[in-house]
Amino acid sequence: MLMLDAETRGELWRRLVEAIESYLNGVGEARVAPPLDVEAIRGALAPFDFARPLDPLEALDFAVESLWKWQVHTPHPRYFGLFNPAPTTMGIAADALVAAFNPQLAAWSHNPIAAEIEQHLIRALGSRFGFDPARVEGNFTSGGAEANHTALLTALTRAFPEIGRRGMLALRSQPVLYVSPEAHHSFLKAARLSGIGTEAVREVRVDSSLRMIPEDLAARIEEDRSAGHTPFLVVATVGSTSAGAIDPVAEVAQVADEAGGLWLHLDAAWGGAAALVPELRPVLDGAARADSLTFDAHKWLSVPMGAGIYLTRHPGILERTFRVAAGYMPREGSVLPVADPYAHSMQWSRRFIGLKLFLSLAVAGWEGYAEAIRRQTEMGNLLRERLREAGWTIVNDTPLPVVCFVDTDKDGRSAQFLEAVAARVVASGEAWISTVSLGEGGPALRACITNYRTGPEDLDALVAALGRARQAVETA
Ligand SMILES: Cc1ncc(COP(=O)(O)O)c(C=O)c1O
Repeated sequence: MLMLDAETRGELWRRLVEAIESYLNGVGEARVAPPLDVEAIRGALAPFDFARPLDPLEALDFAVESLWKWQVHTPHPRYFGLFNPAPTTMGIAADALVAAFNPQLAAWSHNPIAAEIEQHLIRALGSRFGFDPARVEGNFTSGGAEANHTALLTALTRAFPEIGRRGMLALRSQPVLYVSPEAHHSFLKAARLSGIGTEAVREVRVDSSLRMIPEDLAARIEEDRSAGHTPFLVVATVGSTSAGAIDPVAEVAQVADEAGGLWLHLDAAWGGAAALVPELRPVLDGAARADSLTFDAHKWLSVPMGAGIYLTRHPGILERTFRVAAGYMPREGSVLPVADPYAHSMQWSRRFIGLKLFLSLAVAGWEGYAEAIRRQTEMGNLLRERLREAGWTIVNDTPLPVVCFVDTDKDGRSAQFLEAVAARVVASGEAWISTVSLGEGGPALRACITNYRTGPEDLDALVAALGRARQAVETA
């Protein structure tokens, strides 16, 4: 039963491809978000006691129907959500191939082509960010959180070379790192998991555009040094999760340098895509000075989930951070001029993550991607215009297509009002949006263009749904 017979396989593949095609063609007509009905979902699963084998086609149909019914359709052109894209066609094909060939990326010699494709991409992307392709190192990760965690660990290893062996005993004093309040919360997790603790994370003040204030960063570093702590890492974000805020990378890099060469990490998980579009490139000014960088292909490069990337311009730091000796692993990696992925990253057995990006990029080319990113940026600008015309006020400041807004009426700025509006839009099935809290800027509605298929008609539908929701909340 694990390998089905040829006839059943033929039918299964046919139905699978049909299901994928009808999803791609029909998702735009579906409700964007399902009702959150826990009982109904658990009820549908209850008959699966696994005592009675199910017909493979029936099992496939169940999965397809359930996914249609019970997921927020992130590939929907009216999903204005959290950086989750509509996947590229080549990305879908790549993930299917990877499932069938099942490459094992722990050791280079088990899958030299997969390992080399990923390293080829690391060099190609590295040079887009201004890193020297001959020196850049990096790896593919499950996502941005793992890449940020990797950054924290590599920075710690550089600052405390003995930490890998002696752990916390190697620390002369409390290590501290600096982020803006807009930084992704994965740094808190990384601080917790690395053992330095969340109190090691310092929040640097931001200006009215939610950009880190370099002078405050310098002052905080000085203060911590005077208190006997050891600053070791500064994180600048290019395209923050809530509001697309862009820290002034070059100035932050200057402060990090003047403070004795602190490790500078750039979290460009989403905004890094700006590197592919000349007119957006200025948001990454200074990126080449970063010691490491996070970029998620499963965000703005629209490949299916699970494709983060960590890059560094310090050859050898990944090896120093992650290598352990294991007698049972293949040894060709230490003889040939290659890197064994398991000795350079957090993961051991690992899926071939890079193929979905490789095939997508091979087919679209840099120019195809630039066009898609440019179009989404234009849709962001058009959304701002449409929202203003409809009586909403934009409260964030970014050239990237994430729009935070409130009702222009002063009573339309409370968290309660905005959450009620977002909840009604989502419940209508017309679109998916969310709310955020922008520090001193207060609460806001948030809509992000995450889909290369989103067009002006989808923006109109969102603005209309918002109008109806606003009226309903006001009269409720
Ligand atoms: C700026 C930023 N960094 C890191 C992450 C974490 O990435 P992932 O969810 O891929 O782990 C996100 C997620 O949205 C993000 O927006």
